[in-house]
Amino acid sequence: MEVKLGANNIILDCDPGHDDALAILLALSSPKEINCLGITTSAGNVPLELTTKNALRVLALIKNNNIEVYKGCPKPLIGELVTAENVHGESGLDTGSGTSLPEPISNYEDKHAVNFILDTLKESPINEITLVATGPLTNLAAAFSIDPKTFRRAKRIVLMGGAGFEPGNITPAAEFNIYVDPFAAKSIFESELEIFMFGLDVTHKMIITSRRLSAIKNSSSLVGPAVADLLTFFNVYDTKKYGWDGAPLHDPCTIAWLISPDIFKVKKMSVEIETNNGPAYGRTIADWFNVTSKKKNINVAVNGNSDRFFELITERLNFFDE
Ligand code: BDR
Ligand code: CA
Repeated sequence: MEVKLGANNIILDCDPGHDDALAILLALSSPKEINCLGITTSAGNVPLELTTKNALRVLALIKNNNIEVYKGCPKPLIGELVTAENVHGESGLDTGSGTSLPEPISNYEDKHAVNFILDTLKESPINEITLVATGPLTNLAAAFSIDPKTFRRAKRIVLMGGAGFEPGNITPAAEFNIYVDPFAAKSIFESELEIFMFGLDVTHKMIITSRRLSAIKNSSSLVGPAVADLLTFFNVYDTKKYGWDGAPLHDPCTIAWLISPDIFKVKKMSVEIETNNGPAYGRTIADWFNVTSKKKNINVAVNGNSDRFFELITERLNFFDE
């Protein structure tokens, strides 16, 4: 894919995952606003072989064999991989009906995801590429550590991860993506690139209620029923966990913000990552009141309009009928 000057040229680094799948669909259904140069996969919700296959399956669902998929790092920088089959099922994309998404219609590329990220940044004009991350930050941190100068050619990083004020979802303190690879998150948060963090503070407002699920299912989109089937499964674990009307749809917040920034409210503040062992391991420590006077390094999404968010997703799914 070619870079389009002035557009949101993105590389989407993800670990599909139901909500990652929705992030892919939202990006690819919005060609006016988003130019997706490629998808890179990280280990996270399920092991890397499955997240990679799942990215290809999502592309098969929309009959897309143009978008290239690059497989990334199989493990976090330090420690063992933690996965979330309890949320996403054994495949990582289990469905309510038990039907699987179609098998891939294309293969992943030979090149490693980290090389793809660095080569793309090197070959593109400076400040044109947005790195969107909806899984653990391992691939981005590896790229940054291998070639910081090239990595800094990115325009910004837009990520789903962390929790400034909200409790964690994998431990009382930590959000899943940061918890899986806090050392990667620490290096990225300290990279001095412009970072937009969509954490649980805002994603926990984006609830897949039964009304929103029906709207997707009954939309005229050809993929509406399949997407609703995915979300039906996704709703099961989280609905029990939180006692809410549905699961929070985390990952597409990143793409929705690129399409329609006014859906969200963002505030810049200092955010640090706790990497010491203990109950706060993987916590994003956000200094809302500026009590430390530390450099404000992260733009934290602090609020969002959930109706507009779901309307955007539901409307954009119709793109796949064209
Ligand atoms: C994040 O964890 C994963 O399970 C989701 O895909 C999302 O990226 C939410 O904490
Ligand atoms: Ca994810």
